[in-house]
Amino acid sequence: SKIVLAYSGGLDTTVAIKWLSEKFGAEVYTVTVDVGQEDDFSRIEERAYKAGARQHFYIDARREFAERYIAKAIVMNGMYEGLYPLGTALARPLIVEKVVEVARRVGADAVAHGSTSKGNDQVRFDITAKALAPDLKIIAPARIWGMTRAEEVEYAKRHGLPVGEEHKKYSIDDNLWSRSIEGGPLDDPAAEPPEDAFKWTVPPDKAPAEPAYLTIEFERGLPVAVNGEKMELVSLISFLNHVGGANAVGRIDHIENRLVGFKSREVYEAPAAVILYHAHRDLEKLVLTPRELRFKHYVLDPQWADLVYQGLWVEPLRTALEKAAEEMEKWVTGEVKVKLYKGALWVVGRESPYGGYSHELADYSRGWYPTDEEARGFIEIWSLHSLTALRRRK
Ligand code: ARG
Ligand code: SIN
Repeated sequence: SKIVLAYSGGLDTTVAIKWLSEKFGAEVYTVTVDVGQEDDFSRIEERAYKAGARQHFYIDARREFAERYIAKAIVMNGMYEGLYPLGTALARPLIVEKVVEVARRVGADAVAHGSTSKGNDQVRFDITAKALAPDLKIIAPARIWGMTRAEEVEYAKRHGLPVGEEHKKYSIDDNLWSRSIEGGPLDDPAAEPPEDAFKWTVPPDKAPAEPAYLTIEFERGLPVAVNGEKMELVSLISFLNHVGGANAVGRIDHIENRLVGFKSREVYEAPAAVILYHAHRDLEKLVLTPRELRFKHYVLDPQWADLVYQGLWVEPLRTALEKAAEEMEKWVTGEVKVKLYKGALWVVGRESPYGGYSHELADYSRGWYPTDEEARGFIEIWSLHSLTALRRRK
């Protein structure tokens, strides 16, 4: 039989190559999907072969990740429970897509991944695989073998497998959109994250003494240029990660409700995601009607983030939410000026040809005023529901 394994190059999936071939007598094909993680892909390939892979595939999916996944997150202001930009969650369905493609190419009967039974990733992986390829078996070795980390290292040694950093302090998952940091000292939610947890961002006291200004241009809800320079999405995001990180912007530390029944302390670095979230949402506030704005920010956006986090990328409601948003995003075109300074971020200016703002209406010193009679009538009717209820409840 043939099994296609989503291969990161880490301990779990390296042990999995050997374990799968022994346990199932299978030929194991490995796939590493490049979604912008900072890795040495030729070393990963070398490892795969050393561990016994029949054939290794490297797939550069950075552009697809940006255009088909991150772009949706930007438009939908995707932040799980208000703070997590969903980097890991967004990459999983794309990785599965690529693994399934390879499975078809080599004629495999199963796909495999390295997730544990305690995490969200297994749910995202399995559901997407079931949707795309219901005929393929799904194998998650780490859910089956019951080895501790130390036993995995022992297994690797016994079989001469090429594993390196087995004594890692943190569990890291990074891609173009965010760097997720879990475990070790972070498992004490009362303790501040040690400085060595961070890699993309400097601490605020090491940031420049002068603020950095970014003018971000949006077209139909998507960023297309920064400081007057047109960029395609991958470069634009990398650029913002760089500038944001250098100004200590983009560190996130929160308690997250996992979908597998418990809360976990999660730390992220996501400078571009944080900057674009604030800039995009601000432009929506300028352009959308108050009814559109409330419906999008209170209903569509959080529903979308929940589905993506909870492994339901394939749920039909997700695309329905996006279609509803698309109708409004037609007008989310314009420029937002953002100021970054020692870890803080402020939107300090915005403009759009479709902005609902009218200086004539907002200015106190001149222009249109309702008459006293108009104002009284409006207030009378506006408060009627509330005042009636209050009288009844006395
Ligand atoms: N808590 C985040 C999520 O569920 C990050 C998960 C990190 N995954 C990993 N394999 N280290 O999306
Ligand atoms: C895993 O168990 O694979 C990582 C943790 C997670 O999915 O949240």
